[in-house]
Amino acid sequence: MSHITSAILDERGFVVLDRYEQSKDPKEWLDLEYVDWKSSGDTRFAPLASAAGEIDANGFWNHRPPRTDKDGVWIESQVAKAPNLVRRAKEPGANVGRCRVIELQPSSYADALYNLHQDDNNRLNPDGTGWIVRGYYNLSDDPDSFMVLREERYDPTTEVRIPLPAGTQVIIDTQRFWHATWHPGTAPRYSLITSWESGPALDAYIEKYHGHTTHVNTPLEPDLAEKAQATLQRRLAERAEALAEKRSGR
Ligand SMILES: [Fe+2]
Repeated sequence: MSHITSAILDERGFVVLDRYEQSKDPKEWLDLEYVDWKSSGDTRFAPLASAAGEIDANGFWNHRPPRTDKDGVWIESQVAKAPNLVRRAKEPGANVGRCRVIELQPSSYADALYNLHQDDNNRLNPDGTGWIVRGYYNLSDDPDSFMVLREERYDPTTEVRIPLPAGTQVIIDTQRFWHATWHPGTAPRYSLITSWESGPALDAYIEKYHGHTTHVNTPLEPDLAEKAQATLQRRLAERAEALAEKRSGR
């Protein structure tokens, strides 16, 4: 037995849907209640669905009793402020786990590389049920920012960079990819992140919005790429040294 996955997501680990017409909706994300929650940069989260229906950004596996990232409980006070965001998260009809808006302060490409991480959405997810993947729907208009994905953390040749104008809709297997957002803007970036269970409902939704995997990266300036890679190596070495010092009690 293994988990149920989506064939189109299996191709490259992500799928791009039709662009949503974001400008027709009010900026509901500015009305939500946020909590400080550091994840891949200087971030805050506004949960819409959480483990127990409270304004809590924690993984469901840290809840008592622990469980996988499914059956999120909608938070009434937040739902009332963001009907369009909730409608979009519920539209596939797939099981929803965590659903939240993330706010990210500006970051460099080197920051994004340093912050690359894999999610743990499928911890405790029973075999034979749907694999948890996540929707990343860009709310603010950030055409010069990118979702950076790498199959291999330190291998730039495995990198995918998806630009983030308002209304960008991408579904990503964030447990497969190392990922982080490069956001060179001056204002925060907002994105709706929803954990969905893979299965026929999610597949039908992907098809409805013409999901495709034909994305091609816009090339990076070689100088920028090289400098960022060097900064990453330096920061990783500094971190390793700091950890070693801590361990030896120096
Ligand atoms: Fe993540």
